[in-house]
Amino acid sequence: MTDRNTAGQYVAVFGAVGGIGRAVAREFAAQGWQLALADRDLDQVRELATELANEFGVPVSPWGFDARDRSAVRSMLEQASAAFGRLASVIDLIGIAPVRHFLNVTDEEWRTCLDVNLTSAFVIGQEAARLMVEHKRGSVVMMSSTSAHIAHGSQAAYSASKSGIEALVRTMAVDLGPLGIRVNAIAPGTIMTPLNLQSVTEDGRRERLKRIPLGRFGEPADVAALAYFLASEAASFISGESIRVDAGFMITGIVPPTTESHEAPR
Ligand SMILES: NC(=O)c1ccc[n+]([C@@H]2O[C@H](COP(=O)([O-])OP(=O)(O)OC[C@H]3O[C@@H](n4cnc5c(N)ncnc54)[C@H](O)[C@@H]3O)[C@@H](O)[C@H]2O)c1
Repeated sequence: MTDRNTAGQYVAVFGAVGGIGRAVAREFAAQGWQLALADRDLDQVRELATELANEFGVPVSPWGFDARDRSAVRSMLEQASAAFGRLASVIDLIGIAPVRHFLNVTDEEWRTCLDVNLTSAFVIGQEAARLMVEHKRGSVVMMSSTSAHIAHGSQAAYSASKSGIEALVRTMAVDLGPLGIRVNAIAPGTIMTPLNLQSVTEDGRRERLKRIPLGRFGEPADVAALAYFLASEAASFISGESIRVDAGFMITGIVPPTTESHEAPR
């Protein structure tokens, strides 16, 4: 089913060729949205744009640049707005997740992670909001993580960047709410993507699985469904939130669930 209100407006997806980004772009394309897609490697974004345009018959414009580059972000959003109309929604999925014991993190690694994850969110959010205020409407969705709320260890920069995103989202929601713009975060648990496979060990994943009440890791489509909802009119009363998509991982606490008294009836 296509969204009836997509004419003259578009969604911008940053980090579009990542594991979750691809699912988000696909979800919007399937609903008939016009898309502007960005990631580091233009060839990969072009390939995805062609795939979605062919499959769903929607206009898709591909962009390749480093998300820390404000002028590139601005140029993309201005050109996409000229071609597609109103910037209705931004989904920012840019992220890196370096793993290093706290004692060994270098200044450069710290700055790079904070820059890529948090400063780019500030830049993308600000450039997007400057266009959205013209129409007094819009939705911005940023990616947090359960790492913003608990410490998995060896992820000081990543966790700090994600906590920063949540603070940024709350502040943006307060400043931009009166201008008609909603801002929310999604905090996924373990979603099976290249980023997760590279940053969590096999043992770590096994331990986490024991603490997930629904008994499975997430798929990118699980996150895409929420991103789409937050961008839609159905979420018009939701702003300043961070919503977890983690199958209950965070509510089980640090202690592994006891087995005997909590065994499922057979
Ligand atoms: N996968 C998970 O389990 C999980 C859990 C919690 C939060 N998240 C967050 O969700 C988001 C997407 O994660 P994913 O698992 O799809 O990761 P991913 O690595 O597959 O995707 C991230 C994308 O960001 C792009 N990117 C990174 N640095 C960039 C830069 N400087 N300029 C432009 N593009 C850049 C990468 O090219 C990649 O396509 C991230 O913000 C991540 O922190 C993921």
